[in-house]
Amino acid sequence: MRLLALLAALLLGQPALAQDASSDPNKLIPARTAKGLAQSPPMGWNSWNKFGCDVNEETVRRTADAMVSTGVRDAGYFYVVIDDCWHGPRDAQGFITADAKRFPGGIKALADYIHSKGLKFGLYSDAGRRTCGDRPGSQGHEYQDALTYAAWGVDYLKYDWCNTGTRNAEEAYALMSDALKASGRPIVFSLCEWGNSKPWLWAANVGNLWRTTGDIYDHWQGPRTYSLGMLDIVDRNEPLWPYAGPGHWNDPDMLEVGNGGMTDAEYRAHFSLWAMMAAPLIAGNDVANMSDATRAILLNKEVIAVDQDRLGVQGRRVRKDGDKEVWVKPLAGGARAILLLNRGAAPAEIGFGWDEIGYPARLKTRIRDLWQHKNLPRRAGTFSTAVQPHGVVVLRIEG
Ligand code: GLA
Repeated sequence: MRLLALLAALLLGQPALAQDASSDPNKLIPARTAKGLAQSPPMGWNSWNKFGCDVNEETVRRTADAMVSTGVRDAGYFYVVIDDCWHGPRDAQGFITADAKRFPGGIKALADYIHSKGLKFGLYSDAGRRTCGDRPGSQGHEYQDALTYAAWGVDYLKYDWCNTGTRNAEEAYALMSDALKASGRPIVFSLCEWGNSKPWLWAANVGNLWRTTGDIYDHWQGPRTYSLGMLDIVDRNEPLWPYAGPGHWNDPDMLEVGNGGMTDAEYRAHFSLWAMMAAPLIAGNDVANMSDATRAILLNKEVIAVDQDRLGVQGRRVRKDGDKEVWVKPLAGGARAILLLNRGAAPAEIGFGWDEIGYPARLKTRIRDLWQHKNLPRRAGTFSTAVQPHGVVVLRIEG
């Protein structure tokens, strides 16, 4: 019966229950991706949000050094990913080369350096003939590129969707997924087709994470040409919570924390919402030159623990009263992470009842504030507190 219900849910495109790992529909399909990868949402750094196409060897090395010296690596951010524009031309045999001016030492030496720092190394390519930045894409070279990446020591591939013409996304991503697997090296596979063909319905056995939306830009709310503000992305990613789980995550795009377009309160909200959504935490700032405030956000280990919780359930919004929202993420061992979000421009009192978070009203719980880093008095039944404009309060509650 349960199998029938799951198949029906899959066919109808309805989310099957993700709360119960044993009913995960994706378990019915043999995994293409290497086993054991991305059991918690991947964490790392990517060059795109801060440096765009202006990326080079020196920037990547300096960032890796800073990830170690500032404690970013030790907080769990392991992947160092070079996004678009690292490429040179293909050689006479069709092998991809690095841009010789920007990466004079070559990619292999850079990957070795990253590995020597106890970090992992990632690259970017595209399922079309050209990348979004008009560098050579992987179409027609999938197996050749996968072998090249493996030989270089690549641990993570972000695979974009520009210039793909009439290609079918599921077929194109499955092809590269098979090529990565055949390379023999475990490589996290990050699908970046912006949610166009609903990858949450088919990609759990193809990749480890899939973008659910268009690109983020460093702004609280409201779109800009092809990009979306932070809250626009939240609203698109939230309903997809049933599809996320260990090894296969919804990806609402990389972090903008520290890039200057939002206030620190807004960045705390951005970071906390990503953690509640079990999103990949891929920093996108200049780590070598970050402020103390940025560091305190990216290194909030209690909020990171919410993101990385081993239950692997994506949190969801359980109440919305205008600008006031209550979010819940179930955590291993029966605890809950709770996020109170104030989208408005004035301070707001936001509260909730135990019934909304799946606790009996009489249960007297421990409550910890994960931004103030302090325990609050135990209580039962309800909780309410003031939340600053464009701010969040994040709590860990347990019986
Ligand atoms: C697309 C992706 C971005 C980034 C750029 C690079 O827009 O969605 O994340 O990789 O391409 O050109």
